[in-house]
Amino acid sequence: MLAARTCCHLPVRTLQLKDHAGHFRILKTLSATFITPSFRRPYASEAEQGNKAVLVTGCDSGFGFTLAKHLHSKGFTVFAGCLFKDKGDAGAKELDSVKSDKLKTVQLNVVKQEEVDRAVEIIRENLKDPEKGLWGVVNNAGISTFGEVEFTSMDTYKEVAEVNLWGTVRVTKACLPLIRRAKGRVVNISSMLGRMANPARSPYCITKFGVEAFSDCLRYEMHSLGVKVSVVEPGNFIAATSLYSPEKIKAIADKMWAELPEVVKEDYGRKYFDEKIARMHTYCNSGSTDTSPVINDVTHALTAATPHTRYHPMDYYWWLRMQIMTHMPGAISDKIYIH
Ligand SMILES: NC(=O)c1ccc[n+]([C@@H]2O[C@H](COP(=O)([O-])OP(=O)(O)OC[C@H]3O[C@@H](n4cnc5c(N)ncnc54)[C@H](OP(=O)(O)O)[C@@H]3O)[C@@H](O)[C@H]2O)c1
Repeated sequence: MLAARTCCHLPVRTLQLKDHAGHFRILKTLSATFITPSFRRPYASEAEQGNKAVLVTGCDSGFGFTLAKHLHSKGFTVFAGCLFKDKGDAGAKELDSVKSDKLKTVQLNVVKQEEVDRAVEIIRENLKDPEKGLWGVVNNAGISTFGEVEFTSMDTYKEVAEVNLWGTVRVTKACLPLIRRAKGRVVNISSMLGRMANPARSPYCITKFGVEAFSDCLRYEMHSLGVKVSVVEPGNFIAATSLYSPEKIKAIADKMWAELPEVVKEDYGRKYFDEKIARMHTYCNSGSTDTSPVINDVTHALTAATPHTRYHPMDYYWWLRMQIMTHMPGAISDKIYIH
């Protein structure tokens, strides 16, 4: 189905501007440079990847779990950071059951500096030649929540930022000495909500906007050192991962209502609150169930000679909305999508 195809795989011709009498030759060259789909870019061979090691965070479930297995199948040595490896989490167990020297799970809560330091130590000890460094880090671990600004406690803002933003910064900083040696890659999983905001998603949006800013700054700084930094901005894959579930939404909603200040409860009312929660439940069943566009984009960012700065694995609806919201005046995009 048209809407289910990701824009990153659009044929060049679809997005290319016309070349009437050479007037748009420069634009055509630019579009070919920047919009060339992944399959036309050179990839590193699987034999080369055999000597490369990567750390992926948040591998207990979702994109991280699939990615760890996929990168291992491509020949990478994968260090799969799992939040609950120490508690025997099913995801970590399943990755361990592959029983390969090249797929190692490591206990890694990105919020805890000591766990991050320990994970990097384990990686260094297990690298064939630590002097050659670590090829890549994929900052994938993340959590999400929802709720209007007035419904969201300061603790919630801080909790989401601890994982999504400060976790990304913490893990990246700890890995950079090894990544610099390899002239390797940093791949940060942001979101389409790191590019455009949405009502009732401020705790999540601000962390992903932060990841985008951090990635840009790092990309500029690392350019002369040969390290490439990419951001992957997935659209809606809620139905495919564990980011939200009806149980999670109910738990968040119950806690939120219980902790709301009386004035907010009275002014908005229970009916309004319940309608918002019902909308979240609907959203929770939406989105693509095929995570391969995200997995392929991360793989491209790790293996292509010239990885993209940003990847947009999302369907046409969200891709168009993101373009309009990021490139058109706010008055227009607000009118179309928000009000
Ligand atoms: N799914 C989407 O539609 C979507 C869209 C855009 C962006 N993303 C981003 O994609 C990334 C992966 O999410 P996902 O959709 O695959 O959801 P997911 O299935 O919930 O995966 C997130 C993983 O991060 C782990 N995690 C949570 N807190 C952590 C911490 N403090 N330290 C280390 N790991 C932690 C989770 O562990 P537990 O399972 O044990 O909690 C889980 O394995 C996130 O950064 C998310 O924001 C997702």
